[in-house]
Amino acid sequence: MLDKSFDKVKKHFSFRTLFTVVLIFAALASLFLLSSCTGLPVTPFETEAPLNEEPDARITAYSIAEAKDGIIINLKCDIDKELEGCELLIRLFGDNSKELNSITIDPPLEPTDVFIECEPEKVLGEICAELLLYKDARHSYGGITLKIAYGLPQLTPYGVKCVLNVMTDEEKAELVTGHSPKKQGASGATLGLWKYGIPSVTVNDGPAGIRYAYGIWYPSVMNISSSWDRELVETVGRAIGEDTLAQGIDVILAPGMDMQKYVLGGRNFEYCSEDPLLTGLTAAAYVNGVQSSGAGACLKHFAANDQETYRGSVSVVLTERALREIYLRPFRIAVEKSSPLTVMSSYNSLNGTHTSVNRELLTGILRDEFGFRGAVMSDWGAAGSVVDKVKAQNDLNMPGNAGDKDAILSALEKGELSREELDRCCENILTAVADSASFYGIPMNTGIDYDGHSALAADVAADTFVLLQNENDALPLKKGTSVVLFGNGADKTVFGGNGSGSVIPQKTVNIFDGIENSNKLVCYDYYNDPFRWCDPHDPEKPNADVRLTEEYAELSAKEADCAVIVISRSSTEGADNKAIKGDYYLSDNEAEMIDRASEAFHREGKRVIVLLNVGNPIEVVSWREKVDAIMMIGYPGEGAGTAVAKVLSGDVNPSGKLTMTWPKDYSDTPAKDYFPGNQSQTIYYDDIYVGYRYYSTFGADVAYPFGYGLSYTEFKYSNFKVTATAQGNYYAEVVVRNTGKRKGREVVEFYVLKPGTTLEQPSYELCGFVKTAAMKAGQYQKAKVLIKASDIASYDTENSRYIVESGDFVFRVGSSAGTFYGEQTVNRPDVTVVAEAENRCAPATKFDVLQKSES
Ligand code: BGC
Repeated sequence: MLDKSFDKVKKHFSFRTLFTVVLIFAALASLFLLSSCTGLPVTPFETEAPLNEEPDARITAYSIAEAKDGIIINLKCDIDKELEGCELLIRLFGDNSKELNSITIDPPLEPTDVFIECEPEKVLGEICAELLLYKDARHSYGGITLKIAYGLPQLTPYGVKCVLNVMTDEEKAELVTGHSPKKQGASGATLGLWKYGIPSVTVNDGPAGIRYAYGIWYPSVMNISSSWDRELVETVGRAIGEDTLAQGIDVILAPGMDMQKYVLGGRNFEYCSEDPLLTGLTAAAYVNGVQSSGAGACLKHFAANDQETYRGSVSVVLTERALREIYLRPFRIAVEKSSPLTVMSSYNSLNGTHTSVNRELLTGILRDEFGFRGAVMSDWGAAGSVVDKVKAQNDLNMPGNAGDKDAILSALEKGELSREELDRCCENILTAVADSASFYGIPMNTGIDYDGHSALAADVAADTFVLLQNENDALPLKKGTSVVLFGNGADKTVFGGNGSGSVIPQKTVNIFDGIENSNKLVCYDYYNDPFRWCDPHDPEKPNADVRLTEEYAELSAKEADCAVIVISRSSTEGADNKAIKGDYYLSDNEAEMIDRASEAFHREGKRVIVLLNVGNPIEVVSWREKVDAIMMIGYPGEGAGTAVAKVLSGDVNPSGKLTMTWPKDYSDTPAKDYFPGNQSQTIYYDDIYVGYRYYSTFGADVAYPFGYGLSYTEFKYSNFKVTATAQGNYYAEVVVRNTGKRKGREVVEFYVLKPGTTLEQPSYELCGFVKTAAMKAGQYQKAKVLIKASDIASYDTENSRYIVESGDFVFRVGSSAGTFYGEQTVNRPDVTVVAEAENRCAPATKFDVLQKSES
């Protein structure tokens, strides 16, 4: 019945498919253009939104019911003035899509019962009502489908209210709590109620792939974010979405998008960046990719779950401005640019109120201000009663407790919970369910495309590596170079982080095997290298942390061409890393290994390369001069070894950039004195000065700045220009030329220094970025971005609104947050109010935060 309808169901799906095809075609076309000429004419940039919006018309249906000789639909229409004169066409279909009747009426502007004659008793099962507002044969608006089966309204995207109307309190009370998934081992599910055509929707973890045996382990979110390549992120998202459906799951609980605020954050590998713009745009691309497959995504954890220590009890104390500019902004961007199906609230409290029971946060900000329309679920077992969660519009209590239903019913009875509050959550859940794969009947459980997606995971990983140091062009390695591998991680490569963000892969390629299998490099002493037999996970083994002996260093330095040392660290949900040896600092054995390898290999005139297989920055300043090249490979997923071989051999030119600042030492971080706080609170004294905003403003020297990353080629920037548009936005453009000898891509970063006329402002903030296409030596490309007023706005707490200050704005272009090649000042004579808001989550008592004047 549904496939005859013209409502969102099919339009939505075919639009997604069409959109993806167009995207792929556009990407191929631009690649072709870019590679076939020297003056590169194609520039990725965003266009401004059209000034005039299409007139709008909507139909809201409240009920559909069978009467004696027909169907009664209670509905109302909202139509823009320009559309006055529209008519409402209602057509009824019975079994086998047989048309039963159709009528045309004036659209009712108030809730009204409309009767359409037919003989329900002659219909075997369902009656489908299609409603369409139309002006003339060529202009129609607001088409919806309603359905009734055996006398009961059925769920359709626009028929949610009709179903709610007839659901019992018991059913509603069960809907707002989680249920056991049909798919054993999945994280959770919603209630299915087949009499209303409501399927149970299964949700399961990500984000580095669907966490169900056996899946594909993609590079971590931290890695794909390091590519600064939204097309790449979307491609990975799409593949992850396909795996999700292939495993019989509707919604992947991903992406993670809290801030990489602390260099020790245990889940930084699941998050995108220390910068809100990069985080928001990466997350939006991930969601768009996942949802283009028909699966649903889930932004998590809303908000400020930036540390794992005490995550269930800690209250993050912060100013309304920092909350909005740093921690909430990524969610706003992702909601606006990708319409995620779901959002997960976090474990922590914000200024004393748990996020899952925080009405101001979930209703006031997420829905009313940001326009989120899907369902919110709690994190698993998060504090707060189910009743308070429902009141706040944390729609779904996960994973669900046996007592939830009774608690809801008793609160309803006592008047502690209103029926409207319960209905609101049910409506949110059903709206999401009516947009799910199970509802559409999209094929699921089809089996993963292991070969295709495994190859994709390895290919993509190579594009996420960040080259941090490359003295005397130590990299890439010539064909035939023999490489000796040192370090536990060469064999026990850390493919991803632990906890719910891990994946159970079908196969993995560690670094030993990646080099051994490569047709470019030779793995020296593959069978006898002492690091092949270590087991850092087995404390019983004396060689858990293998030492590099002087003898082996000397021998291999004579026989192999180069040493590659792998430094690995694990990170996990539930715990933060530590500023101790073997974690943030090298262990004694690692330091000794770097010393011995460097001495032996340099004595022979040979190179030493270090691969950082880590989920967080580590200390590098004390040892980096001893080695020739350093590459951050992060958590590259199951194809780690294959990707490493490709990048070391120069098959792939590294083009990633850091998503976090790497400080010189832990003691330089703004959080050193207050992280992780205590059981009950952690105070964000650094306020808006997170990551590079802190280091650049307060003059702290860093090891590697945010946005930093080298290439095997070089780029020159010229002709930087910023042009204002009539709407108060800007186009920033610059010409980037590949002046080196190899093909490569460059991430071009735009920053802004705001005038600080009325508000405290950091030295500079990222306001746009774009990644060039692959340019051959000598080729150039114009990189151009649209910087909207909202991209440079600040939150003015005193007047509770987002503003762009008046005064001089200094725009800069650079290759990192520490290297700029052009600057232009633009004056704004007046203050622009970008959006009005309300101070909804301010701290109960004022506290001193970091400010320039006090430094
Ligand atoms: C994590 C979430 C995860 C959930 C379900 C929680 O412990 O914080 O990120 O989605 O478990 O597994």
